Amino acid sequence: MYKCKNRGVVVGPGDDAGVFQYKSNLLVETVDVITPIVDDPYTFGAICAANSVSDVYAMGGTPLTALAILGFASCDFAPAVIRSLLKGAVDKLNEAGTCLIGGHSIEDNEFKFGFAISGVVEKNNILRAGGASAGDILVLTKEIGTGILTSAVKLGKMRRPSLKPAIDSMLMLNKTAAGAAVYAGAKGATDVTGFGFLGHALNMAKRSRVNMVIHNNKIPLMKRVKDFIAAGAVPKGAKRNLEYCSKNTSFASNISNVDKLSLSDPQTSGGMLISLCPEGMKKFDKVAGREKMSYSVIGEVVEGKGKLTVK
Ligand code: CO
Ligand code: CO
Repeated sequence: MYKCKNRGVVVGPGDDAGVFQYKSNLLVETVDVITPIVDDPYTFGAICAANSVSDVYAMGGTPLTALAILGFASCDFAPAVIRSLLKGAVDKLNEAGTCLIGGHSIEDNEFKFGFAISGVVEKNNILRAGGASAGDILVLTKEIGTGILTSAVKLGKMRRPSLKPAIDSMLMLNKTAAGAAVYAGAKGATDVTGFGFLGHALNMAKRSRVNMVIHNNKIPLMKRVKDFIAAGAVPKGAKRNLEYCSKNTSFASNISNVDKLSLSDPQTSGGMLISLCPEGMKKFDKVAGREKMSYSVIGEVVEGKGKLTVK
């Protein structure tokens, strides 16, 4: 992979966001662009914003500014649609304390929207994908299933109003989760997005040079995810993710193909996967309780060289 030799690079490509030191400041920078997953432009704009700032939270940082990137066929969309999209985005960015300070749009046959986000982080607060240690406990802060459920709606297998809980989950910022992780002294964390739970857990395991033991029955799933997988509402990305992860994952014999696909479901604006030492766990739980943030303990970190066991 491309490596920049500049001494300012603190975290380079391969983590949730890059970190660059300029004088005594640590800048966190990331970009994310997605295609529509819901019909309502206001909601889609807000989900895009939550999804884009998430990578800054996943580094333990604070997102400060945003640049919008919009690709659309100008003849197909009324200005009111774009206004509504931007309104949704700005409202969500404001919730994150992030200012939209510019952007760029291009003609594109396929609608795309996203943001480049810049923020700051304290040196001791940096959460890395490679920061998990043997003996840590793994927690996950959102339910899995946004890819399966949105494809069930697209295929006409699920009614639109039933998507509400998944939409609410995608709209939720990872701010509280990241704050709790930093307070608890966590060093390892990532957000669960396009590579699915397994893909992101495996990336953490590889970069941390540890193995992870995942308890499938502890993984929080959105309602009816397994039914829709069984009914064939499986995004291509889930199959791709599973194939990619299978080489380095050993599944217990009781783990079904439906289970494996749910663990591989690509998430939009997914939750954080955080690695915590047992003492950190108590602090994390204290913040979660105070902030009414739900989370699940889903596994543990053991010595190894970058493999997963799912049982
Ligand atoms: Co990420
Ligand atoms: Co990303």
